[in-house]
Amino acid sequence: MKVLLLCGGEGTRLRPFTHSIPKQLLPVVNKPILHHILEWVAAKTPLREVVLLTGENQEIFRQAVGDGSRWGLQISYVCQPRPLGLAHAVLTAETALGKEAFLMYLGDNLLEESVGEYLCVFEEKHLDSLLLLRKVPDPENYGIAEIAGDRVLRVVEKPEKPPGNLALSGLYLFSPAIFQSIRNISPSARGELEITDAIQNLLDRRKKVEYRLLTGWWLDTGSPDALLDANRYLLGKFTPAVLGRVINSRVNGCLYLERESSIENSQINGPVYIGAGCRIKDSTIGPWVTIGDGGTVTGSALKNSILFSGAQVENFALHQSIIGRRALLTGRHRPDQAQGAAPSPQPFSRLLVGDDGVVIS
Ligand code: DAU
Repeated sequence: MKVLLLCGGEGTRLRPFTHSIPKQLLPVVNKPILHHILEWVAAKTPLREVVLLTGENQEIFRQAVGDGSRWGLQISYVCQPRPLGLAHAVLTAETALGKEAFLMYLGDNLLEESVGEYLCVFEEKHLDSLLLLRKVPDPENYGIAEIAGDRVLRVVEKPEKPPGNLALSGLYLFSPAIFQSIRNISPSARGELEITDAIQNLLDRRKKVEYRLLTGWWLDTGSPDALLDANRYLLGKFTPAVLGRVINSRVNGCLYLERESSIENSQINGPVYIGAGCRIKDSTIGPWVTIGDGGTVTGSALKNSILFSGAQVENFALHQSIIGRRALLTGRHRPDQAQGAAPSPQPFSRLLVGDDGVVIS
């Protein structure tokens, strides 16, 4: 069985970041989402062959993950010239998949659980699809499955009036019967061939579709808030390590400080990850902050935020912010909170700044 990893799409909900980098390559705790996924495939599944579907920007993926040997995987590539839907992506990969059963994984999802047990159920019961469902608080944003006991009654994509709160997660198991079902459906109102409609077609054709409930952590990283959630979750799992220099500073909680980085005259409230070659000075950092390689933070207060590599922040108080690569933020006045002073009425700002963006206030 192969893994079909879907990395096409436009990532519109993650603009401005996706103007310059595909969403599957955005970093979470200083590592692209796709690297986290390939680590998961290598560690949590027995599968080793990955068909990686991309848009026209395939070269950037080849550079980021190559042939997969770094993870003990074999990656082959397929191009979907336009993002015409998840089901269209599956048809595009049909030849590469060799008309065998496959595990489909959405390239903007992060998952913790091992999948071995689900593969066994799928194979032993000769299913045509095994859906992995998860309760969500906002069902209108997902494909939703309506169930009765252990049966799947119907599935519907992003319904206005959801028939329940069990979302299709970004992980599906399919037999080759899915290819015929995709040929049987038409584009949805938003012009996409929906995988949810193809699964409904499997149900209509009385194919064997079952579901299981995911119990572990799962996240669709398709929006800025979800990316910040993923950052918080992964930061919570780090083992602290200080490989750089901490000078005249206070560290509370978990800090991971990479090599050739320094923290000077500052306060750290973990969990905080600081990449290699960073300079932190006269600032309060954390909790839940990741600073990418080569970042500079001076006279600032940051909490619950991500700075991509090379970002520079001076005299800013930021929360729930994502700052792109090499972006430059310069404030005229140093915020009171910069060095752990009592909070003042001056609010923290929330900024989403794309790569190379400049903010001067
Ligand atoms: O995250 C789970 C949800 O994922 C499911 O509950 C929905 O039923 C399913 O449709 C999907 O919804 P999204 O709106 O989140 O899908 P998105 O457009 O973000 O695409 C998911 C991944 O598939 C992403 O890595 C981009 C890739 N993709 C998307 C399209 C539309 C492709 O490779 N080709 C495409 O044509």
